[in-house]
Amino acid sequence: MKSDEIRIKFLEFFKNRGHKIIPSASLVPDDPTVLFTTAGMQQFKSYYTAPENAVRDFGSKNTASVQKCVRTVDIDEVGDANHLTFFEMLGNFSFGGYNRKEAITYAYDFIVKELGLEISYVTFYKGEGLVPRDEESENIWKELGIKDIREDGSDVFWGPTGDSGPCGPTTEIYCKNADGQDVEIWNIVFNEYFCDGSREKLDKGEAKLKKLDVMGIDTGMGFERLVATVQKKKDVYETDLFNNEKTREERIIADHTRAALEIIKEGVEPSNAGRGYVLRRLIRRVTLYSDRIGVKISEKFNEEETKFRKTLAIGLVEFEKGTDPFILFTTYGFPLELTLELAKDLPAQAGKGKKIDLEDFNKKMVEHQKLSQTSSAGMFKGGLANHNEKTVKLHTAHHLLLAGLQALVDKNIKQRGSNITEERLRMDFLCDHKLTDDEKKKVEDWVNEKIKDDLNIVRKEMPLKEAEKIGAEMEFGAKYPDVVSVYIVEDKNGNVISKEFCGGPHIKNTSELGTFKILKEEAVSAGVRRIKAVVL
Ligand code: ALA
Repeated sequence: MKSDEIRIKFLEFFKNRGHKIIPSASLVPDDPTVLFTTAGMQQFKSYYTAPENAVRDFGSKNTASVQKCVRTVDIDEVGDANHLTFFEMLGNFSFGGYNRKEAITYAYDFIVKELGLEISYVTFYKGEGLVPRDEESENIWKELGIKDIREDGSDVFWGPTGDSGPCGPTTEIYCKNADGQDVEIWNIVFNEYFCDGSREKLDKGEAKLKKLDVMGIDTGMGFERLVATVQKKKDVYETDLFNNEKTREERIIADHTRAALEIIKEGVEPSNAGRGYVLRRLIRRVTLYSDRIGVKISEKFNEEETKFRKTLAIGLVEFEKGTDPFILFTTYGFPLELTLELAKDLPAQAGKGKKIDLEDFNKKMVEHQKLSQTSSAGMFKGGLANHNEKTVKLHTAHHLLLAGLQALVDKNIKQRGSNITEERLRMDFLCDHKLTDDEKKKVEDWVNEKIKDDLNIVRKEMPLKEAEKIGAEMEFGAKYPDVVSVYIVEDKNGNVISKEFCGGPHIKNTSELGTFKILKEEAVSAGVRRIKAVVL
């Protein structure tokens, strides 16, 4: 059973038994005497002393919730099997709607009948001072057939939270985890008293209890522990709520990161006091423990976040324009899963929530991969298997040479073949005359000027049609796939000086080239010339 299903099962169970489902309250409670919400009952505290308001506010005397909680008292225990600083608490509550019998029977039915778990043992309050031994609970458990029923002391007396509030004896349910350890699963509180001081004062005998007119029920079941038990796991980290963190350090990082995130979501900022200090401490501990395992977590997150924000900013604009997912991926680095996620989130927005054609995407990807493997779009044939630094440089020089010939000799010059080795490039091109020394010199100078200008070589994936439309250089007679990559160089003023269909690879910036030099210019056949050139 997945954790999500367990949550739903719980809420359905109580909804079907006359409980109003109430959403989780904020982690930062209204009560100024409490730092964080530590239990499901906190948002309902006032109803225990004014139960008549429950029907007014909820339309029922009974409620149920899944409450986000933060507890830092056990922070040093985090790293073991079950302790967490942030957790969710499943709870059902009643303000005069029912009593011990119903509360215990509901819990029994849910644990044993709904979830099929075995109860290992239960506890009840032994009684002290004004508060009598809870024989009623003991008897209810006996009637339900529980064999191991244990009497306990102040551990099974709850509350109050904050500087005063409802409180009372509790009964707890324990089940065995996959390791055979008994784990406390559920705490059922009978709020029969009001305490005029804090728990600390009550324990010191400095606060007084007063019997309430109406019995209040408050129950709490640690969700992560329950999931571990249902999923037959040894610890909460093995459940589908975590990622199987094994070491204490990893567990602290996972727990504290989760807790810090939830606290930040409530608008709390790290500071030197109160909630802000708890947040600061959590973050600092994440740093400490990640350092200890040699992982600079926040650094990695920051780096990746910064990089990704750039992709995201441009990609989102393209996505909203309805750009093809394949282009989003290959040109803008916007992965398919992200496109799918956005498409899912925006289904109703006109024009944006269009269905993503996965088949089309996959088809284009297959072609794209073929293209990268064979480099069939370009001239980098023959020497393709040899992408070493020298050939990659000569390859870029080859693009610049063609652009230079077109710029200075004849704009109609077309490439007719090429060959690149580690030593030199060779280009065959259509031209009606032998180049003069002056032309060769001008072309050479032009290429060297572009090298000095620090120009980027940018690769773009685009549909063949688009590449043709922008007039990218292609080799005569070559066959191209539906999607091609085009390498583009712009000059300092942003004018495109070279655009060629090409499988690459290329250098990133022209400044990586040395000095360009034409070695030889000769005829190959009528109307076809050949240049051999080097970069030194
Ligand atoms: N309020 C009780 C607890 O948190 C149920 O354990």
